[in-house]
Amino acid sequence: MRPVKGILLAGGRGTRLYPVTRVIGKQLLPIYNKPMIYYPLTILLLAGVREILIISTPDDLPAMRLLLGDGSAWGIRLEYAAQAEPKGIPEALIIGADFVAGDRVMLMLGDNLVYGQLEFLREAMQRSTDGATIFAYQVSDASQYGVVEFDRHGAAISLEEKPQRPRSSWAVVGLYLYGGDVADRARRLRPSARGEIEITDLNRMYLDEGRLQVQRLGRGVAWFDTGTSENLLEAANFVRAVETRQGLIIGSPEEAAYRMGYCTLKDLEQTVAAMSTSAYRTYLERVLHEAHWESPAPTPGSAPGGDGA
Ligand code: TTP
Repeated sequence: MRPVKGILLAGGRGTRLYPVTRVIGKQLLPIYNKPMIYYPLTILLLAGVREILIISTPDDLPAMRLLLGDGSAWGIRLEYAAQAEPKGIPEALIIGADFVAGDRVMLMLGDNLVYGQLEFLREAMQRSTDGATIFAYQVSDASQYGVVEFDRHGAAISLEEKPQRPRSSWAVVGLYLYGGDVADRARRLRPSARGEIEITDLNRMYLDEGRLQVQRLGRGVAWFDTGTSENLLEAANFVRAVETRQGLIIGSPEEAAYRMGYCTLKDLEQTVAAMSTSAYRTYLERVLHEAHWESPAPTPGSAPGGDGA
């Protein structure tokens, strides 16, 4: 099976976080102890995606490139592209069409944080389909999201963007898996009343054709989006609570790349050696230390990888 490519969409205006986002993009802000973009990037790596296009604003792109590099140190490929104006989420699929080159693609939003049992993602990747798979998560107020309605057999029957009166409490997560022809569909979308092309309209195309799978995420998964100051603080508190309690870090691409077997122990050692002294470095030193004791390093591409994010 051909590899699934990844697109990480990390631009936008971030108006709800103004003035914090006046001179810095949302995805470069910290969630507790890491830049926001580390979290979705780590999820893509843990899902098995190792070729990723990062799309951001022309202003933020240089900083993103400086922060993440070309991925070679982690055994992955990172490329970058600018979105001149935030014209809507599906535009990422149009900008990324050449990069994706007809392969399946996992699109993740740069301000989404997913944590927990990630088996659902790997299962979705295994299903070879040229349709679309999206994920739904139960929230107390779905009116700020795309909302899926299910019939009594559990089949999705409607999709609405930010409805005033949601028909269900199932919100669509900012993580989508599409077949190779998605860019052509995205090009057919017309802007909505708010002047953007809408991911919900794209997903509805698949729904209408009976080619949309909606997978519901259960209690074993935590999902946050971090568009408002409240959400940002909640996500930071969540990360802090889990990390403090478990002594494990959420959202380390270095650790994920190593555990997935994309890079060797030696590669990780080199990466860590170049880091400044910090709690983050100390944690990765512990990972290295334990790896030396536990088992020989996995050969690239062979390890099953750990869960979490
Ligand atoms: P939103 O939260 O919908 O938009 P935003 O980030 O611009 O914030 P605000 O509504 O406060 O102005 O975007 C969700 C994610 O998608 C976020 O990570 C930014 C990204 N995005 C883009 O990169 N380009 C786009 O055209 C859109 C609509 C979103």
